[in-house]
Amino acid sequence: MKDLLRLRTSLTEEIERVLNEQIKMEADASAMYLAMSAWCDRNGFDCSAGYFKEQSDEEREHMLRLFKYVSDMGGRAVSPDVTNVQVEFESFRSVFEQALQQEIAVTQSFNRIADRCQKSKDYVTFTFLQWFLKEQIEEEYVARRALELFDVIGEEGTGQYEIDKRVPKIKYEDTY
Ligand SMILES: [Fe+2]
Ligand SMILES: [Fe+2]
Repeated sequence: MKDLLRLRTSLTEEIERVLNEQIKMEADASAMYLAMSAWCDRNGFDCSAGYFKEQSDEEREHMLRLFKYVSDMGGRAVSPDVTNVQVEFESFRSVFEQALQQEIAVTQSFNRIADRCQKSKDYVTFTFLQWFLKEQIEEEYVARRALELFDVIGEEGTGQYEIDKRVPKIKYEDTY
């Protein structure tokens, strides 16, 4: 069965596996952002709650984009298990620190996949990955800018209130 499947696709087992791992990583990121949204909501940060809900939706779109590619190529896309999603966060700031760490980890993961594609001369998947590599510039930028608000505005007084209001207004311009 396994060999029959390989005859139907140019995707190697290794690339199919790492793409499925990335599908899971995007699903985990989506669940994490939704948990962050819920935490912000119940702590009075309603603008950030909306921002993280949007991030969660975007990560699901990323997951589906990868899922479709594996399926379109005749591979076996696996709907991932998402378990043990974090519920509590230490502080408002720590939510944003974790969000940036998550985005950096995703960028590194895509770099590793691109590296494997080059090593196995899979330029079809390598080309498909370009969208994600480019997308990570924006993802890291927005997450970093959000975290910087904590230093620029400061958390004292009405600081957290101001930070919360500013978070959804962060925009990445890819024109220069
Ligand atoms: Fe993503
Ligand atoms: Fe992301």
